[in-house]
Amino acid sequence: MEMQLQWKCWILIFLIGLPEFGSASRILFMGPFPAPSHWLWLEHFQNDLLRKGHHVTSVNNHPTKHPHENLTEIIISPSFDIPKHFPKENIFSMQFVSDFNNLELWWTIGLMTTEHAFKDPKVKKLIESKDDHFDLVILEQFFHEAFLMFGKRFNCPVVTIGTMGYADNIDHAMGILTPWSLIPHLLLSHTDRMTFAQRSYNAYLSLYDAVLRRWVYLPKMQKLAEKYFRGSIEGPLPNVLDLERNISLVLINAHRSVDLPRPSMPGLIDVGGAHIQKPKKLPTDLQNFLDNATYGVIYFSMGSYVKSTDLPQEKTAQILKAFGQLKQQVIWKFENDSIGDLPSNVMIKKWMPQNDILAHPNVKLFITHGGIFGTQEGIYWGVPMLCVPLYGDQHRNTIKSVREGYARSLVFSKLTTDDLVRNIETLINDPQYKRSALEVSQRFRDNPIHPLDEATFWIEYIIRHRGARHLKSQGAFIPLHQYLLLDVLGCLLLGAFLAIWLPWRMIRRVHKWWLKGETSDKLKESKKRL
Ligand SMILES: *[C@@H]1O[C@H](CO)[C@@H](O)[C@H](O)[C@H]1NC(C)=O
Ligand SMILES: *[C@@H]1O[C@H](CO)[C@@H](O)[C@H](O)[C@H]1NC(C)=O
Ligand SMILES: *[C@@H]1O[C@H](CO)[C@@H](O)[C@H](O)[C@H]1NC(C)=O
Ligand SMILES: *[C@@H]1O[C@H](CO)[C@@H](O)[C@H](O)[C@H]1NC(C)=O
Repeated sequence: MEMQLQWKCWILIFLIGLPEFGSASRILFMGPFPAPSHWLWLEHFQNDLLRKGHHVTSVNNHPTKHPHENLTEIIISPSFDIPKHFPKENIFSMQFVSDFNNLELWWTIGLMTTEHAFKDPKVKKLIESKDDHFDLVILEQFFHEAFLMFGKRFNCPVVTIGTMGYADNIDHAMGILTPWSLIPHLLLSHTDRMTFAQRSYNAYLSLYDAVLRRWVYLPKMQKLAEKYFRGSIEGPLPNVLDLERNISLVLINAHRSVDLPRPSMPGLIDVGGAHIQKPKKLPTDLQNFLDNATYGVIYFSMGSYVKSTDLPQEKTAQILKAFGQLKQQVIWKFENDSIGDLPSNVMIKKWMPQNDILAHPNVKLFITHGGIFGTQEGIYWGVPMLCVPLYGDQHRNTIKSVREGYARSLVFSKLTTDDLVRNIETLINDPQYKRSALEVSQRFRDNPIHPLDEATFWIEYIIRHRGARHLKSQGAFIPLHQYLLLDVLGCLLLGAFLAIWLPWRMIRRVHKWWLKGETSDKLKESKKRL
């Protein structure tokens, strides 16, 4: 009896240990977009896969600070110079760019950065390599669809990670047609209760996106893919659109507590908050600064792309003047030691452990550009926010935060010292902001498992099953007229038409014929009479 139990235990231990056996996979992980915030987020997924013992070949723009024996890096260098093509000065004067321009800007940047990466000799070598083998390709779900060709090249399944949240084309790849009556376009900040005008505009923008993407943008991606992969793949190259439909899984930076509910598929997994870790120990100077602040601390950062040193000088002066008037201490992520006269309550530093600072209970307010990752950190740690959005999705994120009641916003180009002081004091002194921040924080933290663990589970799931066609609907593959039942409707209309028209025609014919007969009879009669 006891013997049997022991055996069972051994078998159990063996079975539990089994997935570890030979489970090390070879993963090609690609984040070709050069903006540092994107990679900072993506790297968390890569690191977790390395931690699980997988071998990762990583194509990106940022050499790692934590070398790992199973990590091979292919660094795109020099990386694409975004400010050279899209000058930063424009960002600060830009107040409102049309949604259509924004969309075209993303496509242009996507095409340029894709080609830039393909031109790199190390990437070319990877495309042409004869002896590389991978079990999985992971790609940032952004504007680099030509990279999906790597899945075909290495004949393995593809997982994408959507940095910016949901987009219609992600739905389409999984087999859902996004309902434009309820789901605002990626660039819009509406809720799911849109007015007639909002719905009309949403439908128009979404249709514009769908048509131009399909007939203008994707053909250009296709050209790029063909230019750089021809010769490396046997037979005809597949269409990028088909490669997109072949994506097994999309991990998306969204969370049920802050994003709108929407129709989904098993292959769409929300992983918003995956980058947020338990706070690590702060450097001593920061720790003391935060611990000793009697009236609390305000943390100010404009993110990783726009450096504080890019700010116009007069704005920097105005901001410093405002900070000098506060009783709170201020920590400012500022990349230049020569900032001018620094008020005694302000500390500047080139680099900040943002997550660890926001986790400190003395932090009263987060002044941010409204980037998605920072916003999520602020939400997680329940810190009210003052958002000063500049470009891209920052306006959308800001409007959402303000609507939820834990943030206020300022327009950068109109920012004054008084405005800044007034908004900071309102956010700190009015308890409703902190209350809303804590409420949303509790919802954001309430997960069955940490989103990063969930992401890694699903990535390994795709490797185990060598792709996952079963996580998406056939809707991804059938033509639009079938999806919308236009063929059935057409058939019905035709049937109804025939059922009404044919008998009607027949009756008319018979009637005419009968009348004709009658008239000819009458004619005969009258002839007789004559
Ligand atoms: C690297 O991979 C090897 C072989 O798969 C594995 O034995 C080793 O533990 C990995 N190293 C680390 C630090 O995970
Ligand atoms: C789709 O992916 C599978 C592997 O997951 C592959 O065998 C197939 O060729 C791919 N189809 C296209 C069109 O790339
Ligand atoms: C801050 O507090 C620490 C002890 O908690 C103390 O050693 C340090 O001198 C204080 N610093 C300032 C600037 O008051
Ligand atoms: C730092 O500021 C000084 C003075 O404003 C300026 O001359 C210098 O170029 C700045 N350095 C950087 C790295 O921006």
